[in-house]
Amino acid sequence: MTAANESASPGYSLEELERAARTVVAAKHVTALVGAGISVESGVPPFRGPGGLWTKYGEPAMDGYQKFMADPRAWWAERLARQSEESELMKGLEQARPNAAHHAMAELEKMGQLQHIITQNIDNLHQEAGSVAITEIHGNRLKLRCMSCNARYPLAELLTDEIPPRCPQCGGILKSDTVMFGEPIPQDALESCRAQALLTDCMLLVGTSAVVYPAADFPVVAHRRGALLVEINPMETPLSDLCHAVLRGPAGDVMPKLVERVRKLAAASGGPPGKE
Ligand code: APR
Repeated sequence: MTAANESASPGYSLEELERAARTVVAAKHVTALVGAGISVESGVPPFRGPGGLWTKYGEPAMDGYQKFMADPRAWWAERLARQSEESELMKGLEQARPNAAHHAMAELEKMGQLQHIITQNIDNLHQEAGSVAITEIHGNRLKLRCMSCNARYPLAELLTDEIPPRCPQCGGILKSDTVMFGEPIPQDALESCRAQALLTDCMLLVGTSAVVYPAADFPVVAHRRGALLVEINPMETPLSDLCHAVLRGPAGDVMPKLVERVRKLAAASGGPPGKE
């Protein structure tokens, strides 16, 4: 039997892992807010912090959306012309596969211990890992979205020679579903995130620096309503002080351990009793 405060890994104690797992099992509605950190172990670079793209190359221009809206045809022409030039981010995204953390979150959902994921990532890795209840607040790189009716389509099916590509339903202009700098978050995604922030009594903060809004606001809204926050991140964030439990480690290491503790506790208490 290991001593309670024996370290589960350099960044957190068994006690802290236990507290995090008990918080998940005791909760009625668990939501996760996920950021780029969860996909670092899949080879997708983060934006900030060590090895972050913005840390290395500086923040990109903030007027991408205005440029697109000013001339969608020119934007698509340039995008298709640059298709072969792969940026560091695109290279990472192209080769990425779900890692142990993505699979652990899909497992938590299957166990009935996680009700919804709000992801800031555009990489589609949660879906590939088998997660279902997902809101992609910054869109999905494999989809197109209509600027008129907000319908979304698989990129592969709709990218034809016609530029700008048009919505089969309403004829509106299609853009990448990914939310550009300067672009408002699509209303349906925003409403889904707000609903989660009002429903949840336990929010997992997985691999996000929690500095980009409106995403970073949802944990604060939930916390103000009494929800307990659990942070999984090797580094401190502006939300760390609000957290009921903090597991300082890479998500690929922490999440499977958290799932195992939750599984044992849930089994001991006879399954997800109070979960909605
Ligand atoms: N496991 C867990 N967390 C990690 C790991 C890891 N293996 N590696 C790094 N992290 C943490 C970092 O400590 C940092 O706090 O992940 C966080 C990544 O922060 P950002 O790069 O700022 O990513 P994110 O919070 O998702 O950024 C939000 O900003 O640039 C925009 O649209 C972009 O969606 C993105 C948004």
